[in-house]
Amino acid sequence: MKARDVVVVDGIRTAFGRAGEKGCFWLTRADDMVVRVIRELLRRNPRVKAEMVEENVWGATTQEGDQGLTLGRTSALLAGLPDSCSGFSVDRMCAGGLTAVTAAASEIALGACDIAIAGGVEHMGHHPMGATADPNPRFLTEKLVSEDALVMGKTAENLHDMFPEITREMADEYAVHSQRKTARAYSEGIIQKMIVPMTVYTREGWMVADRDQQPRPETTLESLRTLKTPFRAQGRVTAGNASGLNDGASGVLLMSADKAAELGVVPKMRLVGYAYAGVRPEIMGYGPIPSTHKILQRTGLTMEDMGIIELNEAFAVQCIVFMKEFGLKFPDDERFNALGGAVAFGHPLAGSGPRLAIHLMHLFGERPRARYGLTALCVGLGQGGSVIWENLQMNGSGTRSEE
Ligand SMILES: CC(C)(COP(=O)(O)OP(=O)(O)OC[C@H]1O[C@@H](n2cnc3c(N)ncnc32)[C@H](O)[C@@H]1OP(=O)(O)O)[C@@H](O)C(=O)NCCC(=O)NCCS
Repeated sequence: MKARDVVVVDGIRTAFGRAGEKGCFWLTRADDMVVRVIRELLRRNPRVKAEMVEENVWGATTQEGDQGLTLGRTSALLAGLPDSCSGFSVDRMCAGGLTAVTAAASEIALGACDIAIAGGVEHMGHHPMGATADPNPRFLTEKLVSEDALVMGKTAENLHDMFPEITREMADEYAVHSQRKTARAYSEGIIQKMIVPMTVYTREGWMVADRDQQPRPETTLESLRTLKTPFRAQGRVTAGNASGLNDGASGVLLMSADKAAELGVVPKMRLVGYAYAGVRPEIMGYGPIPSTHKILQRTGLTMEDMGIIELNEAFAVQCIVFMKEFGLKFPDDERFNALGGAVAFGHPLAGSGPRLAIHLMHLFGERPRARYGLTALCVGLGQGGSVIWENLQMNGSGTRSEE
């Protein structure tokens, strides 16, 4: 069977809260956040009736409690998708949401279904990273990985060791730029359009969660210089140049290009190809480099062809390594994370991949001359995931202009 074209029609996310008792989602269930995203995708796309959605795929790193019981199925039932809509959950840690998207897209490409919703969620307040995991002792007794591999901040320190020319000062400078870009995007009202407000109960009473809690627009190099390095004495990774601990959900509406045409909905971007790759777990932040090389090679495209690049900012150092590898301008390349990244927005693990796709979708609309874009993330225990998309908003009408 010939693979069919798969397009993204829309994407939306909740605000990203700070994990923990002071976070806006502390008293909100993760599955309710997923339901909010699904309902909003349907509300915004009235030509897509709930009965038409055939598959619902969600990524989550911890698959228990309010993220358990096969979230793809539970959230379908809770969101009022029809009984006939199947669903499943996937886990590729930080790339869980991206994997949900590529898994659903692959189903559509092979004709297993026509319309799917896919996304990712992580309530890091309810499910602190790795808290209930029970890694096999052989990992350490047989030295399969070093202890560092299990603590993401330590893997970032290891990347600094691997690239000693990337200093803490550079990581901080990168972080300041990320915060500035996010602040600008907020002041221009861009980010607000990507967030579905959610009325939530908190310790202070009811509130509407409609803004990310983590961004610190006041960040300066001077303020970052004084921060502790929690992962290593005299290290380089700080709370200021790392992503934070967050709660959030994001998702996209996918369908075959033919179905979009049949329904008369305007597709925003087409999936060109994707690749995942592994690296040594101790340097997990290096992951997007081999996965990006792999997908560029497989599609015959080059980094020059990528008009927009959205790389998840788990840690500033890992982004700088990526920029160096692909010849992007430090500290700020106009093609790279134009609206800021996880250093500012926060990083609710599996919830971040679809956020990157949502940013790309927006930026494609703003930059019709950009034909291709990349979304990529690093993944705990040493993986990278990269997806190349084609802009379908090149003539402003949702269809690609012929060249
Ligand atoms: C780095 C990390 C340990 C920090 O956690 P934390 O200590 O709870 O973070 P906080 O937000 O309380 O920040 C710590 C301090 O830095 C300060 N700070 C943080 N960002 C700042 C900024 N941009 N400017 C100035 N100060 C800042 C805070 O005000 C706080 O100061 P205080 O101690 O005086 O109150 C945590 O965010 C982390 O683990 N991040 C990585 C997450 C991760 O691994 N994800 C997976 C990736 S693969």
